[in-house]
Amino acid sequence: MTVIIDGKACAKKVIEELRKKTKNLDKKPSLAVILANNDPSSRIYVASKERQCLDLGFNSCVYRFDENIKQQDLIKLIHELNENDDVNGILVQLPLYKHLNEQEIIELINPKKDVDGFHPINVGKLNCNLEPWAICCTPKGIIKLLKEYNINLVGKNVVVIGRSNIVGKPTATLLTNENATVTLAHSKTKDLKEITKNADIIISATGKAKLIKANMVKKDAIVIDVGISKQISGKLVGDVDFENVKNVASYITPVPGGVGPMTIACLMENTYELFKLQNQKA
Ligand code: GUN
Repeated sequence: MTVIIDGKACAKKVIEELRKKTKNLDKKPSLAVILANNDPSSRIYVASKERQCLDLGFNSCVYRFDENIKQQDLIKLIHELNENDDVNGILVQLPLYKHLNEQEIIELINPKKDVDGFHPINVGKLNCNLEPWAICCTPKGIIKLLKEYNINLVGKNVVVIGRSNIVGKPTATLLTNENATVTLAHSKTKDLKEITKNADIIISATGKAKLIKANMVKKDAIVIDVGISKQISGKLVGDVDFENVKNVASYITPVPGGVGPMTIACLMENTYELFKLQNQKA
């Protein structure tokens, strides 16, 4: 029997744990979100991040900008948020408008407020298997899901498809730190099927609808789908041809309801962890 991994239930567990830990605090963790793009999905993501903060009683402030925003305006805002003791986490929703320099903005965030774990200091710590101030939310959520289902990673052949800084690369790093044997495949990879066929675990993060077909998956492999695309009908689908692959896989995540809810839960956890870090008594 194939197990459909329930990301919603696992995310709820993380959230309820956080609710317990934070309900009696005098001061609440606080998240600042910057939205400076025209992307409809970003708007939906940011709204759910805001909703989840509200639900937990965390403070959240969303800074929304139209395309007239200048790099200098964002730089000034990041400096202000870095200096503001009432802000624990700073999240810059990516991508930014094309005329803005994303990397410059990310590097200006105080690494101890970098709730996404995108700052080079946090990326570097992750690469050295040292403890980053925050770990990127989607990769952290994927590892939590696998652990929740007692999936052993040691020595497993894992293929991660997609090499983004947000998902693919940090996921490959986290899995390496967990002692998996990791292949990072991408758009220039030759004969993807040859690689996926040998994988114990497939993690796909490309945004290409139904890229992973049943004949690319080894019997009883574990399949984690990070992709999300909207079909013309409006239906949301992942990178994985779910209906067919579920007959081959031993565990599989659905879209929606798989990795997505874990990303937001881990964002809340990171916000709380940064709050604790910043409120530690010397
Ligand atoms: N854009 C897509 N995913 C993410 C994410 O996890 N964090 C940020 N900041 N932007 C994103």
